[in-house]
Amino acid sequence: MKDPAPADFYAQLVRELQAHAYRYYVLDDPTVSDAEYDRLYQQLVELEKAHPELVSADSPTRRVGDRPRDGFVKITRPIKMLSLDNTYSAAEVADFHKRVVAGLPDSQVPQFCVEPKLDGASVELVYEDGRLVQATTRGDGEVGEDITDNIRTVRGLPVRIDAKGRLTLRGEVVIYRADLERINKQRESEGEEPFANPRNAAAGSLRLLDPRIVAARPLRVLLYQLVEGASMVSRHSEALAHIASLGLPTHRRHKVCSSSAEILEAISAIDQARAGYPFETDGAVIKVDAFAQQQILGETAKFPRWAVAFKFAAEQAETTVRNIVVQVGRTGALTPVADLDPVLLAGTTVSRASLHNFDIVAGLDVRVGDRVVIQKAGEIIPQVVSVRVGARTGQEVAFRMPEACPVCATPAVRTEGQAAIRCPNRSCPGQLKAALHHFARRFAMDIDHLGPAVIEALVDRKLVRDVVDLYSLSVEQVAALPRLGTKSAENLIKEIEASCERPLERLICAVGIPQVGQVAARQLAEAAVTLDVLLSWSPEQVREQVGRIHGFGPTMVEEVVKFLQDGAQRAQLEKLRARGVGRPQPLPKTSAQGPLSGKSFCVTGVLSRKREDVHTMIRDAGGAVHDKIKKGTTYLVAGDKVGKSKTDDARKHGVQVISEEALYSLIGLAGTGK
Ligand code: IVH
Repeated sequence: MKDPAPADFYAQLVRELQAHAYRYYVLDDPTVSDAEYDRLYQQLVELEKAHPELVSADSPTRRVGDRPRDGFVKITRPIKMLSLDNTYSAAEVADFHKRVVAGLPDSQVPQFCVEPKLDGASVELVYEDGRLVQATTRGDGEVGEDITDNIRTVRGLPVRIDAKGRLTLRGEVVIYRADLERINKQRESEGEEPFANPRNAAAGSLRLLDPRIVAARPLRVLLYQLVEGASMVSRHSEALAHIASLGLPTHRRHKVCSSSAEILEAISAIDQARAGYPFETDGAVIKVDAFAQQQILGETAKFPRWAVAFKFAAEQAETTVRNIVVQVGRTGALTPVADLDPVLLAGTTVSRASLHNFDIVAGLDVRVGDRVVIQKAGEIIPQVVSVRVGARTGQEVAFRMPEACPVCATPAVRTEGQAAIRCPNRSCPGQLKAALHHFARRFAMDIDHLGPAVIEALVDRKLVRDVVDLYSLSVEQVAALPRLGTKSAENLIKEIEASCERPLERLICAVGIPQVGQVAARQLAEAAVTLDVLLSWSPEQVREQVGRIHGFGPTMVEEVVKFLQDGAQRAQLEKLRARGVGRPQPLPKTSAQGPLSGKSFCVTGVLSRKREDVHTMIRDAGGAVHDKIKKGTTYLVAGDKVGKSKTDDARKHGVQVISEEALYSLIGLAGTGK
């Protein structure tokens, strides 16, 4: 392949990295491993070094992460949240040590603090006079999202501490490995997709819009940085001790070092020990210990000069590529996948690896017969990271970009500027098989016996031309398929019939509106309640109704509009409706149920969260809210600074006075931390 011009290559690399950064930071749904992202990023850095004239203002090297997504209130923080530059080798650590020494006056000998790099989602906490008043995500570093309500549900993180003034802290929201295993088992048994890794689970949970769901997730916060406050503390290691002495959670593992040899020893001690840590650790962080020295060293636009990360290598294995096949997705996207000689990697036998897109195949120049290195970097699907070019025998077969869909032979199309190649044929059997597979998934219509072999046979025999056809299959037709007796055919037909009863949210998941995941599908279903209503909306009504839903940004709203306006999609939904598929969405729990049903509350005084929010929590738990104490009020919830006359009045009416904390334990939530 001829090398593209540097300007073209540069533009392509920037676009690709921007797309990955968006998926990682905004959607919490990365499609490449960190190592792959770092590799592309490093290419960009090199290219910018060689061609400074190409550097564009929106290059990922000039930015930290990406903008926060719509749905949470955005907060501009006074002190930017920086990212860390990465190192991968002893030599790079020694270089960092040298740079620090050179950046300080001769008389100053730096000490360093080495600690685990926690793999979760970063968070900034602000305490004012001991009260947790704000928690924000990192967002683009400067502007984050207000996730205070979600963070308040984190067990082990006090919302009240014994401190004066303003205290700003940063740390990582994580999920312990054992907790992730437990919730993944539970999710699978409930037909939900398991989380790919603790980072996705933590980051995804923080973005949930309903703090009650967040409260059920086993999130933890481990703090690693004091940003503001506690002026008597002058070193990072002291700050960690101070944070712990306030009763706040930290990672509790750090070592103060001087020479670069000591730093390397501390890094390898973390590497040796990390399998036994309860949290996921993907590296170590090396920080100059003295705050005064951190200040002298300062920062670049993106990274502090006083700290770096050391990234541990992901577990890798070597194997041979048997074949490179092209898969057709339900939207027509063609994806290359490597069939491998089975090999053991991080505890499982791997025989397939994703190659993501054709640019990556071309970039790596993977050939059938090649020895390749594969790795799992926290993700479940392994990736091909490099090719052992030196091991080639000359027998390897280069991969040719498909010019046509491997299933229906329709010429493939590539949209300008996108890495993806697609099959444009909407009647492609390959797309249909993928769509049926998705439709039947447990979190969608949950049709248990509709596995790959049955789908294959149904489509190949033209018994099913779209998902609606499933609902007119007969036992005889299914029983005539290879390896399926009458009994299994009856079971499948029963399952298909039962799937008509799934609520609207499942149907929305099953038909696959781009960008609309399970949580969004439920919200959309709750807004429309029935398929009839959803189909009756004009584009303007969709914009109005869906635009109001918390968490639906303009892009998502337009995806819904587009989907509902699309002739084929609409016809399919109409046919499903005619077959009676999709039950009305049950409305969210109302006052009829819940731990507080039959009880009424009056809330007064200064509380740890907004009064309206406390009212909503009471109503959501089935309780009624009164503005004033009256006869029949069950409880007066008294926050701080409540006048005696109010509590006396309550007692006079026979109303029990309880604390805010007691209210939360009635609801079954973690307390205020008081
Ligand atoms: S210190 C300015 N310490 O890694 C330096 N960061 O790649 C601030 N991280 O955004 C970061 N563990 O979310 C620091 N022990 C640790 C960390 C840590 C994880 C995250 C952090 C940061 C990212 C940078």
